[in-house]
Amino acid sequence: MGNAGIQYTNALTEGPEGFESTFAVNVLANHLFVRLLRDRFAAPARIVITVSDTHFGDFRHNLGMVPGPVWKSPDVLARTGAFPEPHTTAAGRTAYSTSKLAALYLVHEYARRLPAGIDAVAYNPGFVPGTGLARNADPVSRFAMRRVLPALTLTPFATGRSAAGRCLADVVLGTTRAPTGSYVDRARVARSSRESYDPQREAELWAAAEQFTEAHAVRTDAR
Ligand SMILES: NC(=O)c1ccc[n+]([C@@H]2O[C@H](COP(=O)([O-])OP(=O)(O)OC[C@H]3O[C@@H](n4cnc5c(N)ncnc54)[C@H](OP(=O)(O)O)[C@@H]3O)[C@@H](O)[C@H]2O)c1
Repeated sequence: MGNAGIQYTNALTEGPEGFESTFAVNVLANHLFVRLLRDRFAAPARIVITVSDTHFGDFRHNLGMVPGPVWKSPDVLARTGAFPEPHTTAAGRTAYSTSKLAALYLVHEYARRLPAGIDAVAYNPGFVPGTGLARNADPVSRFAMRRVLPALTLTPFATGRSAAGRCLADVVLGTTRAPTGSYVDRARVARSSRESYDPQREAELWAAAEQFTEAHAVRTDAR
């Protein structure tokens, strides 16, 4: 299960490897995880990567809080400053929605490349207020995320933390039936955005992710 994720308030945060941190955590870390375990999976197995409906980029899916994804070459997306005015919250959130689109691309590519019986599924919990995802945001946004927005879980616009966890567990355990390469929106298989089905981008991103994680894979193999 690749559930770790982060959202920054700029697109300038850089990790020790020189990658932009949203891309490093939300895309490359999951890929490295899958890569290191690739030879150890035994069918039947299921890899679940947590994505987000912010990848749709429309109001219905993000309530206007997160700009939609802006796809670019993986070489650009992997580095800081990939988006206009990269010091702004809008750029940080664009990096976030774009990273979740990237995670969907990789799930589609895993479905193509992994052996039969090793399934890869993308899971969207919906908007889950009250988690630590906004930990880097300004104090007003953090207060809203913690104290105000949880009221939305009484509406279809948001998912409570327990419900999101239960849905995730159901996907991981296979209680929610989902074919490899599919997108599970909370508890049911759905179509992700039209943009998220793009074999050319998927292959290109997979190759780039392999290259970006090469040093770690080699280091581990050598042990
Ligand atoms: N909240 C939402 O509205 C929402 C909507 C759609 C999708 N999601 C996705 O759901 C997943 C869980 O997020 P959440 O909302 O539950 O936020 P959260 O409470 O902040 O949880 C994020 C998790 O990711 C881990 N993490 C972050 N950066 C890491 C790093 N550099 N190395 C290792 N672990 C790291 C955190 O570990 P530590 O606490 O130890 O730092 C934490 O366990 C994420 O993939 C997020 O993108 C959330």
